Amino acid sequence: MTQKLDGKVALVSGSGRGIGRSIALKLALEGARVVVNDLDAAPAEETVAAIRDAGGQAVACIGSVTAPDFAERFVATAVNEYKGIDIIINNAGYTWDSVIQKMTDEQWYAILDCHLTAPFRILRAAQPVIRNLVKAETEAGQRVMRKVVNVSSVAGLFGNAGQTNYSVAKAGITGMTMTLAKEWGRMNVTVNCVAFGLIKTRLTSTTAGEGGTASIEGREIQVGVNPDLMAAMEKGIPLGRGGTPDEAAGAVYLFCQPESDYVSGQTLMCTGGLTGI
Ligand SMILES: NC(=O)c1ccc[n+]([C@@H]2O[C@H](COP(=O)([O-])OP(=O)(O)OC[C@H]3O[C@@H](n4cnc5c(N)ncnc54)[C@H](O)[C@@H]3O)[C@@H](O)[C@H]2O)c1
Repeated sequence: MTQKLDGKVALVSGSGRGIGRSIALKLALEGARVVVNDLDAAPAEETVAAIRDAGGQAVACIGSVTAPDFAERFVATAVNEYKGIDIIINNAGYTWDSVIQKMTDEQWYAILDCHLTAPFRILRAAQPVIRNLVKAETEAGQRVMRKVVNVSSVAGLFGNAGQTNYSVAKAGITGMTMTLAKEWGRMNVTVNCVAFGLIKTRLTSTTAGEGGTASIEGREIQVGVNPDLMAAMEKGIPLGRGGTPDEAAGAVYLFCQPESDYVSGQTLMCTGGLTGI
């Protein structure tokens, strides 16, 4: 039986852990060849190994999405290894919170660079490749649908205290989604966005707790949520719990499969029923 993404080439940023890892595995399970990216080499290689162990194809492109040469390298990896680009998932990210009076310029720009400038550069670098593929396909009388899925957050839709930088970046990516849906429709590319609520990953881990940190781009960034706060957050979710990374990946996959070929420019909330915060 053929799989829905047979022959497709997918790029997934930040796929060494959490939601990105689940997205990479899901796309590979459906037949896509995946370019796995992460800031950290070991988790990226682990995702590649997990895909290969499951009989899929994947290659790693290690490095920060914020590096000036990253976008070209990411796109070149897909073209050199797999001769194309069909699906781009802009997922890499983290949070670096403070109330506005304590938020430094460094904090502001770091989060905008990661969540907004990096997707912009990746999509800009992919455009000439996609344009040339589409030209050849059109000449051959074919229409091949391609997919971009950007990752946003309820913080970008409704705001979240302590996250001026992050909520601005995540609101911005919804604007980028709508604009590129208009620019790239003629190339048969759908561009959509998934805004997550609470998904249980390192970002929201209660075992890391308060004081847990992750080393991100040379900085020790606090990660994790206090268990009491987590319990209160979960109570407010209609489904009564945070989502799993696999459930989050399922929402992204909806926009990658052929059944969504005529859906573009949308932001889907994957929140367990939460419609605001
Ligand atoms: N977990 C949630 O509740 C939640 C909610 C809303 C949105 N999101 C978004 O989902 C995305 C994935 O988050 P997650 O919860 O899976 O977190 P995670 O920490 O489990 O995984 C994120 C991965 O991205 C990588 N990464 C971070 N910065 C990077 C960079 N500059 N370059 C390359 N890789 C980088 C990390 O190393 C990590 O492996 C992020 O964009 C996040 O903002 C998460």
